[in-house]
Amino acid sequence: MMLIAQITDFHVGRVIETTAGSIDLYQRLLEVVEHINRLETRPDLVVVTGDISNHGNLEDYARTKIALDSLQMPYLIVPGNHDHRQRVRDVFDEHRYLHNGSEFLHYCIEDQPVRLVALDTLNPGHHTGKLCDERLDWLTQTLAAQPERPTLVFMHHPPAAVQYPYMDAMNCENGDRMAEIISANPQVQAVCCGHVHRDAIVNWANTLLFVSGSSAFSYALHMGEVPDIDPLFEPGICRLFFWSTETGLVSHLTMVGNYPEGITEGVPTPPGGDTEA
Ligand SMILES: [Fe+2]
Ligand SMILES: [Fe+2]
Repeated sequence: MMLIAQITDFHVGRVIETTAGSIDLYQRLLEVVEHINRLETRPDLVVVTGDISNHGNLEDYARTKIALDSLQMPYLIVPGNHDHRQRVRDVFDEHRYLHNGSEFLHYCIEDQPVRLVALDTLNPGHHTGKLCDERLDWLTQTLAAQPERPTLVFMHHPPAAVQYPYMDAMNCENGDRMAEIISANPQVQAVCCGHVHRDAIVNWANTLLFVSGSSAFSYALHMGEVPDIDPLFEPGICRLFFWSTETGLVSHLTMVGNYPEGITEGVPTPPGGDTEA
């Protein structure tokens, strides 16, 4: 069995003015790290799915690394549209999977119960993502190498629309070509993204497409066209993926933050019943 925590879209380096005062997104990162370290069942691994820093500068990567290094389990890095490939490689230097001899920060982790495939959808200078021929070929070959093993795919940009037109306009180019590849590989249990800053699940390419909300800030849900969107400070998101041979894939959401706890004597007996649940 295995438990993976996905966190995403920290945008470290950005300080956002709100109706409740200014919020430094680096503090939100510290909160999600503490949240994961306190989870009752400790994840085996954390996957960070991009937009790690807001401006892609070395200073913000360096302090992000300090925060992530305080996680009590290993973590993997996947780049987003706000990230800079070479600076990610430089700062997270000991993450050897990033030094793959390719221009792209894609990789496959083989030594876990679930095979983990990470895609690089970064298209420098653009907020939209891209899967070019080289990256799609790499995905095809990587999945073909182990067709029997349960696999999770992680990437920043969703390869399909989530009925959020503002964000759908900046999702991943060639998502339809990726869908053909994923459809032909039923070992892919799910494709797990970020970027939208809202949680969504899509039935896509004969698998599940999880779009995880940001661990730092959300955007209000706009299912119709809007000219602009503003940050909203709903609770930060940490999505969990549990996998075992008995259950297959099970996913849960946990919300970063402190919330009131009910003080009760357990679950009440249902009306007409006489046994405790
Ligand atoms: Fe983002
Ligand atoms: Fe993004």
